[in-house]
Amino acid sequence: MSLKRKHLLGLEGVSKEEIFEIFEAAQSMKEILQRPIKKVPTLQGVTIANLFFENSTRTRLSFDLAARRLSADVINFTSSGSSISKGETLKDTARNIEAMKIDAVVVRHHASGVPKFLSEVLKSNIINAGDGAHEHPTQGLLDIFTLKEKFGEIKGLRVCLIGDIAHSRVARSNIEGLKTLGAEISICGPATLLPREIESLGVKIFYNLDEALKNADAINVLRIQQERMESERFPTLREYQHLFGITNERLTKLNKKIIVLHPGPINRDVEISADVADGEHSLILDQVENGVAIRMAVLFLICTNKQN
Ligand code: CP
Repeated sequence: MSLKRKHLLGLEGVSKEEIFEIFEAAQSMKEILQRPIKKVPTLQGVTIANLFFENSTRTRLSFDLAARRLSADVINFTSSGSSISKGETLKDTARNIEAMKIDAVVVRHHASGVPKFLSEVLKSNIINAGDGAHEHPTQGLLDIFTLKEKFGEIKGLRVCLIGDIAHSRVARSNIEGLKTLGAEISICGPATLLPREIESLGVKIFYNLDEALKNADAINVLRIQQERMESERFPTLREYQHLFGITNERLTKLNKKIIVLHPGPINRDVEISADVADGEHSLILDQVENGVAIRMAVLFLICTNKQN
């Protein structure tokens, strides 16, 4: 077993061997999920706390289900309705929950760096479920796992991330993981939605969507994150849709089959048209299905690592 880490805070620094270890475990988890009784006793006696300080549908339910499929006990905390509204600090909240004898914390927070902070103040294993615009490692893993299932090999695969790269933790985790596995990565979007440190990312940059599509085998379409934009980054959603929206018309012109991922939630008919999201190019629901297997694999490998 090569995943010898106590926490999963991001995909930066995670080796090829570790990613493949997670994928191998996820493949076994997928087999468990095909059985009539989709549950194994692997994490019996382990207690996992899901701490969600920011809204989530897929990640929260997926981590919850993944833990239950492995027979762990789960407690779910969401900041709304909690004592955060009475002024309790993040550190106090986390340490009080840990005092209930939990073993691992899955955390989502709107501020970058919170999982790392918790890894310094708690004894539990910490798994990042998305922190600000920093990283969303299990989303990156499930995206890449879905591509590997489809194409067999990531090395040399041309993957383009499209849209709001500047605010996207999904983009960062995808870039880290894809780079480690040897993919050819490009990004495409309006200059105002690309990060300032763009040169340091080591990826190709396209400002024209049709050019980007011609040079890709697969695309990962990112949500316009209006809640993270402190100012308007483009004139109107209609103009964004016209220049950067993925539509069937655009994909048909390519005369090749291109694979479409989207981490969700989708802004239908903004960054992706409804017919593409639901169409033959889309692996969006495969991503969601694989998310449970990837999270089972991560929980299993982190929580059973005797060195932790
Ligand atoms: N992809 C993703 O993180 O979705 P949620 O915000 O619904 O968890």
